[in-house]
Formats: sequence, structure tokens, C-alpha cells
Amino acid sequence: MAPEEGATHAVRRRVVLFPLPFQGHISPMLQLAELLRARGLAVTVLHTDFNALDPASHPELAFVSIHETLPDEAASPDADIVAQLLALNSACEAPFRDALEALLRGPDDVACAVVDGQWYAALGAASGLGVPVLALRTDSAATFRTVLAFPRLRASGYIPIKEEQLDELVPELEPLRVRDLIRVDGSDTDALCGFIARVADAMRGSACGVVLNTFDAIEAPELAKIQSKLSCPAFAVGPLHKLRPARPAAEHGSLHAPDRGCLPWLDAHPRRSVLYVSLGSVACVDRAAFEEMAWGLASSGVPFLWVVRPGSVRGTDEALSPPPLPDGLDEEAGWRRGKVVAWAPQREVLAHEAIGAFWTHCGWNSTLESICEGVPMLAQPCFADQTVNARYVTHQWGVGLEVGEEIERARVAEAVRTMMAGEEGDRVSQRARELKSPTDRCVATSLAIDNLVQYMMSL
Ligand code: UDX
Repeated sequence: MAPEEGATHAVRRRVVLFPLPFQGHISPMLQLAELLRARGLAVTVLHTDFNALDPASHPELAFVSIHETLPDEAASPDADIVAQLLALNSACEAPFRDALEALLRGPDDVACAVVDGQWYAALGAASGLGVPVLALRTDSAATFRTVLAFPRLRASGYIPIKEEQLDELVPELEPLRVRDLIRVDGSDTDALCGFIARVADAMRGSACGVVLNTFDAIEAPELAKIQSKLSCPAFAVGPLHKLRPARPAAEHGSLHAPDRGCLPWLDAHPRRSVLYVSLGSVACVDRAAFEEMAWGLASSGVPFLWVVRPGSVRGTDEALSPPPLPDGLDEEAGWRRGKVVAWAPQREVLAHEAIGAFWTHCGWNSTLESICEGVPMLAQPCFADQTVNARYVTHQWGVGLEVGEEIERARVAEAVRTMMAGEEGDRVSQRARELKSPTDRCVATSLAIDNLVQYMMSL
């Protein structure tokens, strides 16, 4: 269907969406867009030039580029993440406001905007124009609780994180320990706290609702606690990737083209025999850690499918994909049991019966995708909310094991074998399969999107 078919005949209620331009944020926002559209709303997606979206991948939605001017250092793949988020917010505020104002002058009735929860500047801009605005949190309810608690954690000395407190439980945020709190290595603590404070202030000051990509079967207590801390309603509408209308190909909204050759490769493997390895769309590893992962996987004896994103091994030429392998690895029989791809059709991979476990950085989308398919996880959190998610995976839901802090080949091989063939691995695999039933029930019975749409229409 053409994006604006029928728009000339009647005034329609339009929702304006504004995703943060990173894969882990774009996917849930576009999944939400599809769900709103399927309930009869017109949807316009505003997007940045940075990591620009391809409108052709979603012909049913209207896209408008806002044309921001981002300083070169903030657009670089090596940019400090917190500095990048601050720069994006300041570069996008005015163009976002202009684009929203233009839509307000258009023929449709703008019911509300939904912007990523990290767009604090856009939250303020929309509410300044009198447009009701909701924030989409693309992370877990537990992470959102941590964000809201940050000023208290700083005032009570838990932040900056201190070595001697790493294993202390954080009051009111159990089961999180100090070591699980949100952190971004290499970023300044003041900058991180400043960013989080702006996000929390905008949420409280400007948002008339919070939308979370999570659901009761895994986070009911966290959701109840969040609601008690907010004066606006919170809607737990996840898992969005499962609820959105079925589409012919599963990976629309992807910034990279998936290598679908790994699916027939998986077909040739027995049930639950393959370890899927991916550290998501942003995390990078040092060359030394990459080599230890490679040797560890090769010597584990387990077949593996490994996503090595171009540019994800620090110090390696991005054009060389995959990066040069350690000397001698190619001749190892264990290495030849594996397959390396630059980008996988992850949701299809996780749903494949050959997958036995997922070695993951515990990004929230990856965590949800794994839980929904009943796949246990080997957790290797890298930064931001991933430490929070990993703690829930291993200690709250019991559906994963830790890889361990030190990425060293013998330890890696041991962790992989324990996951795929050891007693502990059996236990968490069983638990992952058990958690799938309440998850499926939540997906089948969810009315959360209808409640959200009803609320949007009442604004
Ligand atoms: C980071 C955060 O850690 C995450 O929690 C936050 O909410 C967004 O930013 P990211 O590194 O992108 O996320 O990880 P994740 O949230 O797991 O999202 C990655 C997405 O890319 C997933 O939907 C996954 O299916 C997809 N993906 C990844 C692929 O489709 N193919 C791949 O090869 C790798």
C-alpha cells in the first residue's frame, strides 16, 4: 500500500515517531510503528541523516529525514558513546522541532509523538509545541529503574563505581550488584551522569507516557515499581518483535544486509548443536580478545555461527571482513566446524532448531529474542544496560551462564562446553525452555498495544 493512500479523503489521526539512530533502537521503534499502523493510525517516522533509514524497507510508513548537522567527531565509529548521544541530542533538537511543526500544519491531526527515551531534547521540543509526547524505552524495566535511581545512587556514593563495592547488592535495585550498574567504559562519569539526569528529567517533565519493550512474564515486579515512581502511565508493550504483524522477511529495518547463507548451513546441523555468537550492533572487542574468542571456539569442539561485524575488532581495517584470522587457526579442525558471517538474520537464527545456545552481549533486543525462542545464553555484557540484562539472565530468570570477565581461550572453551554439554548448561537450557511458555502466553493474550492506542486517542 502507498504510504499516504486515502489521506486526501479524511482527516486521519497521525502518530509521529522518532527513533534513536542505532540498530537496537530503530528495530523496536519500527516494530511499534507497524503495530500502530495495523490499528488504523497513520504513522510518520522522522529520522536522522546519521545511520539514515531506508524508506523502501517499509513502504507502508511515511518517512521524513530531519537533516541534522553532526560534528565529524560525533559521527565517527570510534566516537565516545555518551558524547555521541549528547551531540545527537543537541544537533537534532531544532530540525526535529521544525519537522514536527511542518506536520502540525499538514492535513492530518497529529495525535501524539513517540520518541526514543534517550532523545531528551526531542521530548522537550515536542512538549514545547504542545504535542503530547511519549517516550519509548528500548531497554528493560530494570534498566529504566536504574536510570530513575541514578541521582540517588550518585548522592549515596555508589556512583562512580568503586572497586571495593563491586559485589555489594544495590539497595532497592536487587538483584543488581554495584558491578551490574550501567557503565560506559572510557566515558567520563560526570558526562554519563549528566546524560542520564537529562533523560530522567525530560521523562518526568515532558513525557505524558512511557512505552516499554518488555512484558509481565519476565518483569512484572520491576514494572510495578516503575509505575509507582512515575506520574504518567507506563505501557509494557513487548516483546515487540513477536507482536508486530507478520511480514514476508523477518529483518526489515536492519541497517545491514543479513547473510542468509547461514540458514541452509544451520539446516545441516542436528537439533540444539550449534552455538550462535554475536555481540550486537555496537560493541567492539580488542584484537587480543578476538583471537582468544576464536581459539576458544575452535578448541571447544562445538559447531558455532559467529557474527563478526565489520569494524567490530578494534584496530582492524573495516573493509577486511572477516578480519585477518590468527596464524594457524585456519588449519584447525575445530575452526572448520564453525561459520563466520558479517551480519546474520538473527531472529530467524535464534528460532532455528539447530541453535543450542546464544553467546551474547545481552543487548536488550538480543535478550528478548533469545528468551522468546527458549534459547539459553552465555552472557558477555560489554557496556551500558548490558550488565543489568546479564544479571537478570543469569540470576533472576536463570536462563544463562556467565562467560567470565577474562576472555582467555581455555576459559572460553570451558564455558562453551559447559553451556552446550555440561550439567549447568542443561539446567539453564531447561529453564529457558520453561520460560518460553509464560512468554508465549503473554504474546498470545497481550492487550497492551490496544490500551496504548486507546490512550493515544484520548490525548
Ligand atoms: C544496544 C544496547 O545494549 C541495548 O540494550 C539497547 O537497548 C540498544 O543499544 P545493540 O548492541 O544494538 O544494543 O544490541 P541489541 O539490543 O541486542 O540489538 C541488536 C539487534 O540487531 C537485535 O535485534 C538483533 O536481532 C540484530 N542483529 C544483530 C541482527 O539482526 N543480526 C546480527 O548479526 C546481529
